[in-house]
Amino acid sequence: MQESPSGGFCPQQFIEKAVREISSTVGASEKVVCALSGGLDSTVVAFLLDRAIGDRLVSIFVDHGMLRLGEAAEVRELCGSSLQGTFICLEAGGRFLKALKGVLDPEEKRKIIGEKFIRLFKEEALSLGEIAYLAQGTIRSDVVESGAGGGAAIKAHHNVGGLPEELGFKLIEPLRELYKERVRLIGEALELPEAILQRQPFPGPGLAVRIVGEVTAAKVAVLQEADAIFREEVAAAGLTEKPWQYFAVLTGIRAVGIKDGGRHYGEVVALRAVDSTDAMTAGWTRLPGELLDKVSKRIIGEIPAVARVVYDITAKPPGTIEWE
Ligand code: XMP
Repeated sequence: MQESPSGGFCPQQFIEKAVREISSTVGASEKVVCALSGGLDSTVVAFLLDRAIGDRLVSIFVDHGMLRLGEAAEVRELCGSSLQGTFICLEAGGRFLKALKGVLDPEEKRKIIGEKFIRLFKEEALSLGEIAYLAQGTIRSDVVESGAGGGAAIKAHHNVGGLPEELGFKLIEPLRELYKERVRLIGEALELPEAILQRQPFPGPGLAVRIVGEVTAAKVAVLQEADAIFREEVAAAGLTEKPWQYFAVLTGIRAVGIKDGGRHYGEVVALRAVDSTDAMTAGWTRLPGELLDKVSKRIIGEIPAVARVVYDITAKPPGTIEWE
């Protein structure tokens, strides 16, 4: 059943219970490796573990190179300086892009990224010696949408569907029963910085599922730039309430336009903004026309590869939030 964001939910109690459970599950000399993806969920998990087992936590941040502009640096800064245990950052953008070369199918992209993610940090974790547990930030909507709860599989969310069967770790997933809003409340209670708390939900496979078709370094760079402009303008618009999730998509379509007085055949960027509480359903946000106009002009003016900007007006259902 759908939970209300805060009704009857006490984040402090949840934290105490989770910390108790983790401490009693993990033996006094055992270590836990935590998979950091850069999002709120896995960061909250890392900080819960930090309270429970302190320096016996090894956090591994696999930077797959497909995060939003500047976000990898923020994770490195926060986790590198605040967690008591070991923090490792694997810069693996090149390896992910190589694995994705020529891959067009969205589910295949998810699977490749999920498997590579797990394999890379498993290798890293094994090189550190005996580690029994793997902690990750799986939340309720990941489980439901992957079909693990008996529902229809819509998308293979990478922290559930991509997990190899032979995984040698025992899993710790303290947020598995919670939807996003409650995870944010826990993050607040853990006193995580505002930049992380306000971080929008972000798919594990990152910008790869916002680039329709093959993922290349050049496309990632274009999308990061378009997305950063959209975020900047939403922040500058001073909206009373920001959309729940908003981002740019590289549609894989090209269109004709005029640039510098000549014909320009370039990429079509779609802007998507949705309001939701749990990602299970969502409505498209009625962003002010002036804001959309400004974003469109900036994206086309500042990014040479882009010829056109469109706005996605599809609710979920029948659409999904991401394009792939
Ligand atoms: P969809 O597109 O399924 O998205 O309506 C629902 C929410 O889930 C996020 N999302 C993902 N998260 N791995 C994740 O960890 C994924 O493969 C994935 N696909 C979508 C999406 O950003 C939205 O918040």
